[in-house]
Amino acid sequence: MDTSFHLYLLITSLFLLQWLTHYSSANLDINTDRSSLIAFKSQISLDPHNILFKNWSSESNICSWMGVTCDSRHQRVTQLNISSMGLVGTIPPEIGNLSFLVSLDLGENSFHGSIPTSIFNISSLEVLSLRNNSLSSSLPLDMCKHNLHRLKRLRVSHNELYGEIPSSLGLCSKLEYISLYNNSISGHVPTHIGNLTFLQQLFLGANNLSGNISKEIGFLTNLQALDMSSNEFSGPIPATIYSMTSLEYFDFASNDLSGSLSRDIGNMTSLRRIGLEFNNLTGEIPKEIGNLPNFERLSMCCNRISGSVPRELGNLTNMVGIYLANNGLSGPIPKELGRLVNLWELHLNQNFKISGPIPKEMGNMTSLNYLLLYSNELNGEIPKEIFLIDTLLELNIGSNQLRGSLPREIGNTTIQKLWINNNNLSGMA
Ligand SMILES: *[C@@H]1O[C@H](CO)[C@@H](O)[C@H](O)[C@H]1NC(C)=O
Ligand SMILES: *[C@@H]1O[C@H](CO)[C@@H](O)[C@H](O)[C@H]1NC(C)=O
Ligand SMILES: *[C@@H]1O[C@H](CO)[C@@H](O)[C@H](O)[C@H]1NC(C)=O
Ligand SMILES: *[C@@H]1O[C@H](CO)[C@@H](O)[C@H](O)[C@H]1NC(C)=O
Ligand SMILES: *[C@@H]1O[C@H](CO)[C@@H](O)[C@H](O)[C@H]1NC(C)=O
Ligand SMILES: *[C@@H]1O[C@H](CO)[C@@H](O)[C@H](O)[C@H]1NC(C)=O
Ligand SMILES: *[C@@H]1O[C@H](CO)[C@@H](O)[C@H](O)[C@H]1NC(C)=O
Ligand SMILES: *[C@@H]1O[C@H](CO)[C@@H](O)[C@H](O)[C@H]1NC(C)=O
Ligand SMILES: *[C@@H]1O[C@H](CO)[C@@H](O)[C@H](O)[C@H]1NC(C)=O
Ligand SMILES: *[C@@H]1O[C@H](CO)[C@@H](O)[C@H](O)[C@H]1NC(C)=O
Ligand SMILES: *[C@@H]1O[C@H](CO)[C@@H](O)[C@H](O)[C@H]1NC(C)=O
Ligand SMILES: *[C@@H]1O[C@H](CO)[C@@H](O)[C@H](O)[C@H]1NC(C)=O
Repeated sequence: MDTSFHLYLLITSLFLLQWLTHYSSANLDINTDRSSLIAFKSQISLDPHNILFKNWSSESNICSWMGVTCDSRHQRVTQLNISSMGLVGTIPPEIGNLSFLVSLDLGENSFHGSIPTSIFNISSLEVLSLRNNSLSSSLPLDMCKHNLHRLKRLRVSHNELYGEIPSSLGLCSKLEYISLYNNSISGHVPTHIGNLTFLQQLFLGANNLSGNISKEIGFLTNLQALDMSSNEFSGPIPATIYSMTSLEYFDFASNDLSGSLSRDIGNMTSLRRIGLEFNNLTGEIPKEIGNLPNFERLSMCCNRISGSVPRELGNLTNMVGIYLANNGLSGPIPKELGRLVNLWELHLNQNFKISGPIPKEMGNMTSLNYLLLYSNELNGEIPKEIFLIDTLLELNIGSNQLRGSLPREIGNTTIQKLWINNNNLSGMA
């Protein structure tokens, strides 16, 4: 026999061997995926629409099962999405055997019990969404120490998770989105979170987090949305926040923050909305907010803010809401606010020291629904222009020192709720 025939035999048998190995291991792997999904199905105690019960039948290929997506090359499960099916049950540890899984969405069901730690061992996982279930466990502190290096989205909001934010979270360096919103997570926010430079959205609100808002949050240079509301954060707003030029929205409402808002807020050129209501903030409202081209919502009620309402707010034509009730503001209502033709709500009530007349220019606020100016020291007559705003639903100017008579235009008003009590008014003109 010549050598070329030997070579041919050798190559053929090598191919055959490789094919056999590949076939059998692929076969083993899809069987692992199948037994993971069967274990998963067996833990479901209620399937109100009979979806998995009927559709996940043992005779059919798992890749045709509802909510299951396989990759065509390896025939392995890459996505499992059974969100919003009304399922009740627990998540078994076998789910961690879906070793090609890229995206797992079990959201909007009623899974209870703990999140099996094996989930955090799936090295291919990019999306983990367990939103709005009743899961009650802590996130393992070492969750990002092992295999979870591709994770981009972590969404476990609206569950009953407790314990601390894993200190290893900073090692899941691809994260773009984190929501732990509405759980019972406590402790401090780990400083390593500042390493997540791809992060665009961070929702930590409605938990029991405490301590200062760490300066490392300000290192998240791609962050667009930051919610830390309804926690127990104290201390000042860290100065690093003001250098976050991608941030469009931050909400620190309902904490115990003190100190004041810095004039450097004028550097945050992407900013649209801030939520700082129900804190213990002092100082003045920086007029530099008037430089922010996209700004639309200023929510700072129920603090101890002093000074006057900056007339620069009148530059912000996208403004939809100004909420400054229950502070210690004084001085006049700037007539420049009349330029805010898109404003829906203006709340300046219960500052007790806002004085001067109600500017007639406010009649130009042609989108205004709610105008709350009660419990201040406003004086002069009520400008008839206010009653010509044909979007106005609620006007409360009670408990001021307004005088004169009510304008006749009141007969044509769209206002549904009107309070003018505790003034020095003298009937209809
Ligand atoms: C399960 O649902 C999928 C997607 O709707 C469908 O293609 C498949 O035929 C169903 N299988 C069975 C056994 O009902
Ligand atoms: C899962 O499916 C729902 C409904 O089709 C969809 O809204 C959701 O974005 C999907 N989840 C993921 C992670 O793709
Ligand atoms: C799947 O995972 C479970 C628990 O994590 C483990 O005990 C089991 O050996 C795994 N099964 C296979 C087939 O790998
Ligand atoms: C995670 O995977 C490692 C090996 O990569 C293994 O040693 C460990 O037991 C696994 N942990 C869990 C919780 O499955
Ligand atoms: C969570 O899901 C329930 C139905 O299971 C729904 O009524 C509720 O509105 C959802 N909550 C959120 C915050 O999406
Ligand atoms: C938190 O989740 C619970 C249960 O799903 C729900 O009733 C409650 O309204 C949620 N709270 C917030 C602030 O979203
Ligand atoms: C992560 O952040 C911590 C604290 O800010 C820092 O000490 C550490 O060097 C950072 N690690 C990486 C890999 O950037
Ligand atoms: C804001 O901008 C001013 C002027 O460019 C600069 O001096 C200041 O350091 C900036 N502040 C922050 C917090 O980046
Ligand atoms: C607000 O801060 C003052 C001191 O500046 C303190 O006396 C007061 O207790 C704080 N109020 C709240 C509600 O924390
Ligand atoms: C902003 O408002 C102030 C005071 O109303 C005004 O002097 C200034 O020119 C305005 N700036 C811009 C850029 O419109
Ligand atoms: C309302 O706006 C119009 C048009 O922009 C302007 O001519 C008028 O002077 C304004 N009225 C008041 C009272 O400011
Ligand atoms: C009330 O509205 C009618 C019809 O739009 C108009 O003719 C009348 O002048 C208005 N009266 C007052 C006082 O604005």
